[in-house]
Amino acid sequence: MAKRIQFDATGGPEVLQYVDYTPAEPGPNEVRVRNKAIGLNYIDTYFRGGLYPISNFPSGLGTEAAGEIEAVGSAVTHLKVGDRVAHAGGPLGAYSDVHVLPSNVLVKLPEAISFEQAAAVMLKGLTVQYLLRQTYRLEAGETILFHAAAGGVGLLACQWAKALGARVIGTVSSPEKAAKAKAAGAWEVIDYSHENVAQRVLELTDGKKCPVVYDGVGKDTWETSLDCVAPRGLLVSFGNASGAVSGVNLGVLSSKGSLYVTRPTLATYAVPSALQGMADELFGMITSGKLNIEINQRYPLAEAAKAHTELSGRRTTGSTILLP
Ligand SMILES: NC(=O)c1ccc[n+]([C@@H]2O[C@H](COP(=O)([O-])OP(=O)(O)OC[C@H]3O[C@@H](n4cnc5c(N)ncnc54)[C@H](OP(=O)(O)O)[C@@H]3O)[C@@H](O)[C@H]2O)c1
Repeated sequence: MAKRIQFDATGGPEVLQYVDYTPAEPGPNEVRVRNKAIGLNYIDTYFRGGLYPISNFPSGLGTEAAGEIEAVGSAVTHLKVGDRVAHAGGPLGAYSDVHVLPSNVLVKLPEAISFEQAAAVMLKGLTVQYLLRQTYRLEAGETILFHAAAGGVGLLACQWAKALGARVIGTVSSPEKAAKAKAAGAWEVIDYSHENVAQRVLELTDGKKCPVVYDGVGKDTWETSLDCVAPRGLLVSFGNASGAVSGVNLGVLSSKGSLYVTRPTLATYAVPSALQGMADELFGMITSGKLNIEINQRYPLAEAAKAHTELSGRRTTGSTILLP
């Protein structure tokens, strides 16, 4: 018998229940992992709230955790009992003491990376890897706009972009968050709760705007983000923290300067053939000291609902983990 978080219907944080659960035996290509730390991500609120569909109820939740393998399926050859592993993506259910997963979503953890660090950085760090290195290949000297710069993804992006020699203009909603983003390497910070972002970006870039804008806030910042992209530049709309962007008028891309827009997701970048390479680059950034992981909130797994309330209420910074 184990414990996990599950829910019977979509809704607010109150739908999350901490229940007894009997994990399955792993199938031939699966492994069973005893979780040591679990990552909290904004996508978890989209599944819980119904923005992203759930195929079967009752459903588990969570797509990121780190732990130790306690059973392997008969066809798994590259992993063994006792291996330290982590994952980001795969079937929902990471909010659990133990989780049965396809073996190809797991990466092996180097000794230098703790379970807590891995749970805090896998999903967000792999996301920053593909955003800055693949969706757009950031070059030294470029000035970019990154929204919610003090968030989990945001603090990692500020550091990684700085390490690449780029200048990050970060947006935040409070002076405390501004200080966090600055400490993580943001070049300039705009408080979008009261400053005009497009105007400030024009000033800071001497009228050139940015070759790439990263927007995980979504609905509330969509228009502003388009106004901050330089002609023929790219808007990377990668999340919905304020709600989903809808009703897009393609013509606006031409009138604002032949802009490009992409709506990427980690799942199409961290495919099994690319996953370990992306993770190795991420772990290398950590072990070389270029990326510091801020775990600013820790909750017992049983208090996942409280953690969701804090994340949605914009009261967290950096990464949040749940402890089984
Ligand atoms: N596409 C992908 O592959 C991918 C992968 C990972 C994450 N994401 C997305 O990246 C974004 C950041 O994820 P995260 O887990 O690191 O979360 P987070 O940034 O730690 O939290 C979200 C932040 O968004 C800002 N925000 C602005 N308007 C908001 C609103 N109306 N309600 C709530 N928050 C609002 C808040 O910062 P301020 O208070 O400073 O505004 C808040 O702290 C999310 O949209 C997530 O879905 C996408």
